[in-house]
Amino acid sequence: MTAGQADALQRLWPTWGLDIDGQRTIDLGELFGNDNHVVLEIGFGMGEATAQMAAAAPDTNILAVDVHTPGQGNLLNLAEQQKLSNIRVGNGDAIILLREMLTRDALDGLRVYFPDPWPKKRHHKRRLIQPEFLDLAATRLRPGALVHCATDWEPYAEQMLDVLTAHPDFENTQAGGGFAARPDFRPLTRFEGQGLEKGHVVNDLLFRRVQHGVRPDRSDQSPTGT
Ligand SMILES: C[S@@+](CC[C@H](N)C(=O)[O-])C[C@H]1O[C@@H](n2cnc3c(N)ncnc32)[C@H](O)[C@@H]1O
Repeated sequence: MTAGQADALQRLWPTWGLDIDGQRTIDLGELFGNDNHVVLEIGFGMGEATAQMAAAAPDTNILAVDVHTPGQGNLLNLAEQQKLSNIRVGNGDAIILLREMLTRDALDGLRVYFPDPWPKKRHHKRRLIQPEFLDLAATRLRPGALVHCATDWEPYAEQMLDVLTAHPDFENTQAGGGFAARPDFRPLTRFEGQGLEKGHVVNDLLFRRVQHGVRPDRSDQSPTGT
């Protein structure tokens, strides 16, 4: 960690930091000081892309979570330098945040950009985007919320597409299914740049949390059930 990152953590954490301790439920309106939409970004790395997105959409709050403390210091510095009041930085495991600290329908979006690819087969179970993760995320995302993933690891991209497509709580925004073009609001990320230098192909996925219809009133049905 650089001295600047350590200094930012010490000075700015009390104002813009969130300890993910699993001990309490967070009121996001209170955390951000307004009722604007809140998007959760899991694994922001050094935070450059996060800061760019926050600057481009000041009316969208970004709850940016990572376990990597130098990156947290870096993002706090960027937020201070650019006066980005719509960022809060979480330290800890995003699963604990989702499971223990966020309420049902709390989030208006989820961004997961270049999650650790875990290329070895015996490590695939460590990948973040799995059916169980989507079960949890679905409960914290309001209907209509956008889930945006990107990866430069093609086998992981295929896995993401498979599990998101199969999940009943999400639908692909792409009419024909499949991957999406990178939307204008997502900047190139640091990790993505490293992948592109190695000749990797980047895939974006844009899915929506589905609003499940109210179950039909069975009493309306004819006696034959037709
Ligand atoms: C490969 S890096 C990508 C960083 C950034 N999104 C980019 O594209 O440059 C993945 C990041 O996810 C973070 N991460 C992995 N698992 C996490 C978890 N369960 N909760 C929060 N962050 C996590 C890692 O610390 C790392 O910074």
